[in-house]
Amino acid sequence: MEIKEFQEGQSVDFHALIKSISLRETKTGKEYGAVELTDRSGAISGNLWDITDKQKSELTSGVVVHITGVISSYQGKLQIGFQSIQPTSEKAQEYVEAAPADLEKVMNYLTEFISSIENKHWRVIAEKIFEKHEEKFRAYPAAVKVHHAYAGGLAYHTSTMLIKAQAISKFYPWLNKELLCVGVLLHDIGKVLEMPGLFGENYTTEGELLGHLELLLEEIVEICVREDINHHEEDVLLLKHMVASHHGKLEWGTISTPRIPEAALLHMIDKMDAEMEQYRKIYEVLPKGEWTTSKEFFLGNTRVYRGNI
Ligand SMILES: [Fe+2]
Ligand SMILES: [Fe+2]
Repeated sequence: MEIKEFQEGQSVDFHALIKSISLRETKTGKEYGAVELTDRSGAISGNLWDITDKQKSELTSGVVVHITGVISSYQGKLQIGFQSIQPTSEKAQEYVEAAPADLEKVMNYLTEFISSIENKHWRVIAEKIFEKHEEKFRAYPAAVKVHHAYAGGLAYHTSTMLIKAQAISKFYPWLNKELLCVGVLLHDIGKVLEMPGLFGENYTTEGELLGHLELLLEEIVEICVREDINHHEEDVLLLKHMVASHHGKLEWGTISTPRIPEAALLHMIDKMDAEMEQYRKIYEVLPKGEWTTSKEFFLGNTRVYRGNI
């Protein structure tokens, strides 16, 4: 039984992965677990009332569980009412949604790009950052919930952006294409320091306090100091600006707003890639001729329609 097939009122018996579980209290002070479950088809959440001490220690993020229960609907969203929940020894990987691409090829494409970077400072910075973070970069989603929220999502998002950057820059031959592409390559890699990884929903303390833009800027400066590169020189400064401004607007968490066309274009490509991926995910489950039941916060906070054509 797959999560995407669940319907309101249905009795279900299925296996899924605990994506996150957090302990909360009811108004009367009773402890319960807010559980988020996922399989490759979708995700569902539910509250585990009267959680026992044994369950608290056994049921953690990344554990595959066998569940029986009944599906209900709350504020327009399906949820599971648990009858039983038992840990199993099954592997988490089998239940995690994966990027719709061959990650081996994605990583080869990015590594080849790194070795082709002509500006020596940019190449050293990219090489050192990838040396340090490649494993997590390859495994992590690009976001906990919003876009590319699946295994390999960060690498996939970066590679599809790099393909777009290389194609779009043909229309603007007066831009510094390499600056744009290195900016794309590095823009989100600070997320490996910010996010909890595939499981769990809490950001790291550093991530929460500083965010992935600032965390990456710090890494760049650290590398420059170690590699004897003057990070105040203009090529490094411009690369830092690409990272610092890629969220575009102050209300979207950017450190500075884009002041050069390469940075403006990086932001546009990032936004395009993230938004189109969200539409793709919605269209995977939304039937033709129907609207989403809830407003999509990151798509202009409106409901989304899928046309009949
Ligand atoms: Fe970002
Ligand atoms: Fe991004």
